[in-house]
Amino acid sequence: MKIILAGATGDIGSAIALSLIDKHELLLLYRDEEKRQALKGKLSKESSFLSIQECYNRLEEIKEAFINFSPDVFINAIGDGFYGKIEDIALKTMDESYEANFRVPFFLTQIAYDIFLKNRRGHIIFINSISALEGFPYGGAYCSMKFALRGLAEVVAKEGKRYGIRVTTLYLGIVDTKLLQKMPFRPKQGSLIPKEEIVKAINFALEIGPKTEIKEIILKNRRLLWR
Ligand SMILES: NC(=O)c1ccc[n+]([C@@H]2O[C@H](COP(=O)([O-])OP(=O)(O)OC[C@H]3O[C@@H](n4cnc5c(N)ncnc54)[C@H](OP(=O)(O)O)[C@@H]3O)[C@@H](O)[C@H]2O)c1
Repeated sequence: MKIILAGATGDIGSAIALSLIDKHELLLLYRDEEKRQALKGKLSKESSFLSIQECYNRLEEIKEAFINFSPDVFINAIGDGFYGKIEDIALKTMDESYEANFRVPFFLTQIAYDIFLKNRRGHIIFINSISALEGFPYGGAYCSMKFALRGLAEVVAKEGKRYGIRVTTLYLGIVDTKLLQKMPFRPKQGSLIPKEEIVKAINFALEIGPKTEIKEIILKNRRLLWR
């Protein structure tokens, strides 16, 4: 399959890229050149990369790269952690969370969706969080935007269904990544979800037959132990 992966240089994105590269053709979206070089060095074979730096000003260029690649699947693994109590969250923090967790993912998803719409087939996979299913303390900026992304996934699924577009969302518990450093409460290492489990879930969603759609996969920490 031909897969566009947004957020490929992140911890979860890299794990997905490293695992999918053997079986699929990938277009890896990134914004940081150093991180791109680091990922490139770890890949078992050559892959295409596309910078999404200044993406809003480069709409036509990014569109063209997507069209030329002709994807079957678009995966969004972009996002960032912003945590604070309601009374402390600055509007600037809300804007930053909106940008990373919703606006950029929406912008890129829309470009992929448009191609899938014309092709009458395609699969969009959102890497989301259990923070999109339930509010958590300190989650005013994070949960709110993850709920918004979940709303987008619901609409894309309903609008896209008749055009052969499948949508899958992975709602993840706490994964072993650097995002943990930003969280107000840190779980113990042993109770974190290994990144390999996410890759297994994505493969499951990719490999299901054409008549079936996996709408949601919820990966929860079996038992969270806090520090
Ligand atoms: N880690 C967890 O426990 C966990 C749990 C549930 C859900 N998630 C979600 O899973 C996704 C990946 O998380 P992760 O742990 O892999 O975090 P990560 O290592 O920080 O990766 C996040 C990715 O998003 C990109 N990104 C962030 N802000 C961006 C922006 N404004 N514009 C463009 N790209 C941006 C980053 O780009 P750079 O590489 O250039 O920094 C990076 O590729 C996120 O949506 C996160 O919310 C994570």
